[in-house]
Amino acid sequence: QQNGLAMRPPMGWNSWNHFHRKIDDATIRAQAEAMVSSGMRDAGYTYINIDDTWQGTRDAQGIIHPNSRFPDMKALADFVHSKGLKLGIYSSPGTLTCAKFEGSYGHELQDAQTYAAWGIDYLKYDLCGLRDQIKAAPTPEAGNKIMVDAYIKMRDALRSTGRPIVYSLCQYGNDAVWRWGTTVGGNLWRTTGDINDHYSRMAEIGFSQAGLSRFAGPGHWNDPDMLEVGNGGMTADEYRTHMALWAILTAPLLAGNDLTTMTPETIAILTNRDVIAVDQDAAGKQGDRVSAEGPIEIWAKPLEDGSKAVGVFNRAPSPLTTQVDFSKLGFGHAVKAKDLWQAKDLGTIREPYTVTVPGHGVFFLRVSK
Ligand code: GLA
Repeated sequence: QQNGLAMRPPMGWNSWNHFHRKIDDATIRAQAEAMVSSGMRDAGYTYINIDDTWQGTRDAQGIIHPNSRFPDMKALADFVHSKGLKLGIYSSPGTLTCAKFEGSYGHELQDAQTYAAWGIDYLKYDLCGLRDQIKAAPTPEAGNKIMVDAYIKMRDALRSTGRPIVYSLCQYGNDAVWRWGTTVGGNLWRTTGDINDHYSRMAEIGFSQAGLSRFAGPGHWNDPDMLEVGNGGMTADEYRTHMALWAILTAPLLAGNDLTTMTPETIAILTNRDVIAVDQDAAGKQGDRVSAEGPIEIWAKPLEDGSKAVGVFNRAPSPLTTQVDFSKLGFGHAVKAKDLWQAKDLGTIREPYTVTVPGHGVFFLRVSK
């Protein structure tokens, strides 16, 4: 069923969270350049993904053309490739996209061929425009079939081009997509509605992912939506929580900020090698919640070398002191630990281990025997 792509969760950048509709060729090129100059490419970020609003109209043959803000998509792809990066694009199985631009309905094969000819490496395929058709179906089952068939149609269209194109399903977690995402060829699928740049929404999404770990693995990932790190609506502690939680969730790491104006702190959060290594661990196992006690939640992710990434999250706005029991995490009473955000080897630590976690913050560890 699978296309052999995205054996680790995709890493890159997407235009939507920061730029929304304000995108053009120059913006995308500038992001690609900044991904290189900031060190993000060397940290593993690869995809430069153009989201909704690049589309123009179809010509007499039905071939889609970008709008005037994207004069030459092939040249843009060549430019992005010349930086050692890959280019992604966006469409919908409906007649229109979420932002009411041209969708792929009835033109799936043509569009896949056009993307392949441009040199596109990733497609985010967003349900929006098909929702009316689904609602109008006589039964929920019939509606579900419309959706599943639409995703299969584009999967087959992409495959028939022979070009490796990562297939990202976007339908906001409806219909328990994690149960059928792989059967329609999805390399990743959105498990929730849209994120925004506020702690409350980021936390609502991130902490609601408990129980989904068994549906993810190499080539097929749960996608709790793109990153907001660096967009300015959260504190540094909140962004470190965002990044740590997404790494434990083995989530795609798609930066959603303006890469040309990052503070050193934003770069440090996005490029922390130890945190990225947790997300990109070769075993490809998604982490899950271990315990929740009031506002303190402990999440853990098993790693290939037998160690675990452990996040002690404080969902309250002020600092809290708590104890970590390593035996509950499957270790003995003493463990070797590294504090990943402090980049500090803690040596052997023993339980009960007492730690004070900042408000909305995280104590993020890699723990081994
Ligand atoms: C939906 C998606 C977003 C973004 C917009 C674009 O809301 O969930 O990620 O792609 O559409 O219109």
